[in-house]
Amino acid sequence: MKTISTFAEYQSEYKKSVETPELFWAEHAETFTWKKKWDKVLDWNFVDLNIKWFDGGTLNITENCLDRHLETQPNQTAIIFEANDPNEPVRKITYKELHTEVCKFANVLLSNGAKKGDRICIYMPMVPEAAVAMLACARIGAIHNVVFGGFSANSLVDRINDSAVNILITSDGSFRGNKQIGLKEIADEALKLTPSVKTTIVLKRTGQTVNMLAGRDKWYHEEMQNVAATHIAAEVNAEDELFILYTSGSTGKPKGVVHTTAGYMVFAEYSFRNVFQYRHKPSPNGEGMGEAPIFWCTADVGWITGHTYIVYGPLLAGATTLMFEGIPTYPDAGRFWHAIDKHKVNIFYTAPTAIRSLMAMGDEFPAKYKMDSLQILGSVGEPINEEAWHWYHEKIGHGNCPICDTYWQTETGGFLISPLANIGKDKPAHAGFPLPGIQTILVDSEGKVLEGNGVEGNLCIKFPWPSAIRTTYGDHERCKQTYFSTYKGLYFTGDGAKRDTDGYYRILGRVDDVMNVSGHRIGTAEVENAINEHPAVVESAVVGYPHDIKGQGIYAYVICDKAIADENETRKEILAVITKVIGPIAKPDKIQFVKGLPKTRSGKIMRRILRKIAEGEVSNLGDTSTLLDPAVVEDIKIGAEKLR
Ligand code: WT7
Repeated sequence: MKTISTFAEYQSEYKKSVETPELFWAEHAETFTWKKKWDKVLDWNFVDLNIKWFDGGTLNITENCLDRHLETQPNQTAIIFEANDPNEPVRKITYKELHTEVCKFANVLLSNGAKKGDRICIYMPMVPEAAVAMLACARIGAIHNVVFGGFSANSLVDRINDSAVNILITSDGSFRGNKQIGLKEIADEALKLTPSVKTTIVLKRTGQTVNMLAGRDKWYHEEMQNVAATHIAAEVNAEDELFILYTSGSTGKPKGVVHTTAGYMVFAEYSFRNVFQYRHKPSPNGEGMGEAPIFWCTADVGWITGHTYIVYGPLLAGATTLMFEGIPTYPDAGRFWHAIDKHKVNIFYTAPTAIRSLMAMGDEFPAKYKMDSLQILGSVGEPINEEAWHWYHEKIGHGNCPICDTYWQTETGGFLISPLANIGKDKPAHAGFPLPGIQTILVDSEGKVLEGNGVEGNLCIKFPWPSAIRTTYGDHERCKQTYFSTYKGLYFTGDGAKRDTDGYYRILGRVDDVMNVSGHRIGTAEVENAINEHPAVVESAVVGYPHDIKGQGIYAYVICDKAIADENETRKEILAVITKVIGPIAKPDKIQFVKGLPKTRSGKIMRRILRKIAEGEVSNLGDTSTLLDPAVVEDIKIGAEKLR
């Protein structure tokens, strides 16, 4: 399948994707292996919310990730595993070996009673078995629900119960830097409250002691010994659910974003290949496939980035994908750069928050490494500021690697707006142009479309793309309400954006009550609900504020029922509650105790004022005359000054 290679080609492909979308995507879909071809390329309605791609077609995504590569490149490395400990031997898994592992684990799932359509939760460290587990679910037609290994037992309970999970796949523990986290222990805590889970399969990773409940808990390695090494992939419908991935929104309860099989597959491969310009090297004897460039995405499989650009996109494209278990600062802040040289990584994809924190550690770390294998860099998760962009470009890319600033969301399944590497001119801190098939528009607050360039507004998409969210698990209405009803007939991203005079998009960040902390999406309501579980707390309000490393920090204003003896003690307790309810990623950077919150007469908290105070911009708070009690603002201002 052709990969775009010039800007003129991008323009003509984009045009084609808008004028004849069905033809455009059908041509790409043709290049995959189908069990039965589709009847209709696209059927859609953004008002009742119904999106169907390749309806009537049947397939299995893992045949496209694995089986079809066995003919052309069975011995190509599919996954390189770089462990947390740099001295642990590297694991390289070929396509043939990965195929066998997936077939075996699919058989393990079946022998444990798993069926097509079952929900299977994966709560694991960043090890190849996490990818094997995902693919094995897909292979039998079960729906995977991966939960990030940094989430607490409570969060795990919510995500298991919301989708009535039948099987949980976890590990004894996980290594993170010099820490060891007891995943099974956390899972055991959760399993007390998850009646639907009948079986757990436990990978031995750290070797720590764990409790194994007879009849429920089984060891991964033991189960793998007793199964056949072949498995015929289940036939699933194009629109059958592939996975659920929970994400935060502006309400307290995380939503289960649902992606289906065929459209997601087509777009994951297409977007991966075109944005990163992924091409196998020419084969030395002109026969078969040449070597696959080495691609490293530093995300965790617990996030959408890990789903689409560690597992599915690269494997669909027959690429070599590197999985890294550890953290960027262990054993020191040169770990990424060390691993790039060690594995001769060609394409490196990470997050601005990681870049900024490593930049703060000093240039001597990257200076120790050659990094001359690098050809293309990527960024994801939040807007990349110019300073970080330039540091990444110069100190890591040595001035000759393009940076793909990929803008997208859990709900979009794949990239929406991004430069295609080496195609057209990059503008620092701009995501650039929409991918073919992505019909982006900007609207004002009334929903009026802003035409032309040099405009700023709310970013929407007016036409379906293959990997769009289909529903939120168990609650279709909520999906409609959240994404398709702010502006009728449009998908609303929740982000503000600017289209500059040259037509480049620059993402300005969320315009709703969603924060982006170190590239993690966290709802303000979710954090407030957690804080309110502390017995002394009466009410709280949480906002994001600019943070040098994290992009956004979390600022919490908290009202307690009585004067508290020791503010620092209560702060610590609140942080502990949040760690328990959500996980450490949601811990506020600042907690300010206040007597009241700025509310309108109808009782609505004026977050705009709280945001300004958190930013330290107290001189111009705008109109406060509609407040019930304007005096609380003065109090909060004084308290905020003391916290600075
Ligand atoms: C939100 C989605 C998509 C993978 C990681 C996060 C922000 C994401 C960029 C970017 C500016 C970005 C947006 C978006 N975002 N990438 N390149 N430039 N902002 O996935 O948790 O679903 O969060 O992340 O605000 O809405 P997510």
